[in-house]
Amino acid sequence: MQGRLLSLALAVALLAIAATTTTALPVAVVVDPLRPHVHLHTPGDASNAAPEQLHIALTENSGEMRFIWVVQVPFNTTGALLQGQCRVGLAAGQYVASFNATSDSYFVQGFNGTIFDAVASGLQPDTRYHYQCGDASSGFTADTAFLNAPVPGTSRTVNIINWGDMGVKDSAHSVAAITEDVNTGLYELIINAGDSSYQDDFPTPNAYICDNFYNQIQPFASKMPMMLVDGNHDTAQDYVQWLHRVRMPKPWTGDGPLSRFYWSFDYGPIHFLVFSTESGHDTAPGSEQHNFMVADLQRVNTRRNITPWVVVLTHHPAYCSDLLHYERCHPEAQQFRENYEELLFQNKVDLYVTGHNHDYERSYPVHNGTVVSKSYHNSGAPVYIVNGAAGNVEGSESFFEPGIEFRAAHGITTNKGYARWHVNMTHFDWEYFDASHKVVLDRVTLSKY
Ligand SMILES: *[C@@H]1O[C@H](CO)[C@@H](O)[C@H](O)[C@H]1NC(C)=O
Ligand SMILES: *[C@@H]1O[C@H](CO)[C@@H](O)[C@H](O)[C@H]1NC(C)=O
Ligand SMILES: *[C@@H]1O[C@H](CO)[C@@H](O)[C@H](O)[C@H]1NC(C)=O
Ligand SMILES: *[C@@H]1O[C@H](CO)[C@@H](O)[C@H](O)[C@H]1NC(C)=O
Ligand SMILES: *[C@@H]1O[C@H](CO)[C@@H](O)[C@H](O)[C@H]1NC(C)=O
Repeated sequence: MQGRLLSLALAVALLAIAATTTTALPVAVVVDPLRPHVHLHTPGDASNAAPEQLHIALTENSGEMRFIWVVQVPFNTTGALLQGQCRVGLAAGQYVASFNATSDSYFVQGFNGTIFDAVASGLQPDTRYHYQCGDASSGFTADTAFLNAPVPGTSRTVNIINWGDMGVKDSAHSVAAITEDVNTGLYELIINAGDSSYQDDFPTPNAYICDNFYNQIQPFASKMPMMLVDGNHDTAQDYVQWLHRVRMPKPWTGDGPLSRFYWSFDYGPIHFLVFSTESGHDTAPGSEQHNFMVADLQRVNTRRNITPWVVVLTHHPAYCSDLLHYERCHPEAQQFRENYEELLFQNKVDLYVTGHNHDYERSYPVHNGTVVSKSYHNSGAPVYIVNGAAGNVEGSESFFEPGIEFRAAHGITTNKGYARWHVNMTHFDWEYFDASHKVVLDRVTLSKY
């Protein structure tokens, strides 16, 4: 309690300073209620042997959708693999095609369930499909629908939900608000900036936390493809959870030692370039990931008339000013800038989106530490956004360094939040939504025409 009061006093003092140099967002203090874990269960408990944790993702091929789900049945104990499949059609219950799944497992942190992975192909762009997944002995999921990706360069607006650092504890506000958004039918794609379950913050065996995370997001991640990058909380046990529960597109340059961690894809008017900033996943010139970034940006710049917007997604910020994370915002951010800021700038990347810090901040268009423009129209330099306050067991941060020239907006509460994007060929509307108070805290439109 005393620590909290001290923190508040410090915050008020810092706000007074910060307010003179940057536009602070409205303050409102809310403490997330402690929430019991959803769907807590013992791995291998046969009473839970129904399909769960269903989530979908785009693949490297257009016309495909990947489905991943789990049954809490120990993998292959009888020596007979469960035969999973997904059934797909244009109307509820009217499935005309079926796609067999592969199955797999891993055996750490108490997990030994069966993980299924199926890919539907031959899907038409911008078309709504109904589906269900399961196997004969566990049963099938309820009918669910998703909108398949539009063609690159579509003239319509695409609508995207973007969060970072969500976890299963203290994310109830975000989950409730995203569920409401998704139920409007407007949103079609999830961009997750990493640190998914925070499993590694819980006593071992903790695989059930990861189960809970995927169950928690199933109401939306089964309706919209979720594209995500790895964060530092996804690295435990040599990424065993990541490698088994997530499969992102293969990089178009082919397989390399790190190719499960970087890739690119188009979604309507946006080209996404995704890479890992975790330790051991080098981004310096000459590294596998840097070579991919160079090749991918060269390629996308031959067709910016089709995907005018280029968004970089990774977990670690390259510009930030979180006072409690001096090392992240100075030596670490500086190193990322040295590795690739010039590359992103020269290739006219529009946005660099991360999580990592459990807060929200947005830069002006900035290059090499200098604000290039305070306008977001044809601005000519990337905008750097930290969007890492969706929840999680570690709590949110709200203290920022004063006098930061590149910072245009920042959240000064510990409220939970996430972003909504509405993007067409000429306008990229970004809004940051405070899920605790259900109010838009920040809005900016990047435009080019
Ligand atoms: C499943 O178990 C059988 C019998 O033990 C074994 O022959 C088979 O290789 C196993 N399959 C997998 C994929 O582990
Ligand atoms: C899918 O699996 C079933 C058995 O579970 C098999 O009969 C069928 O041939 C498989 N289909 C394909 C395309 O492999
Ligand atoms: C699966 O995991 C549970 C919980 O850790 C354990 O009790 C059970 O023995 C395991 N089953 C197998 C077949 O490994
Ligand atoms: C970045 O700014 C530093 C001085 O702050 C300067 O030494 C360096 O040359 C600049 N780099 C580029 C690529 O402009
Ligand atoms: C793109 O979005 C902007 C802002 O919402 C809107 O003014 C514009 O008309 C849209 N363009 C098209 C072609 O729909």
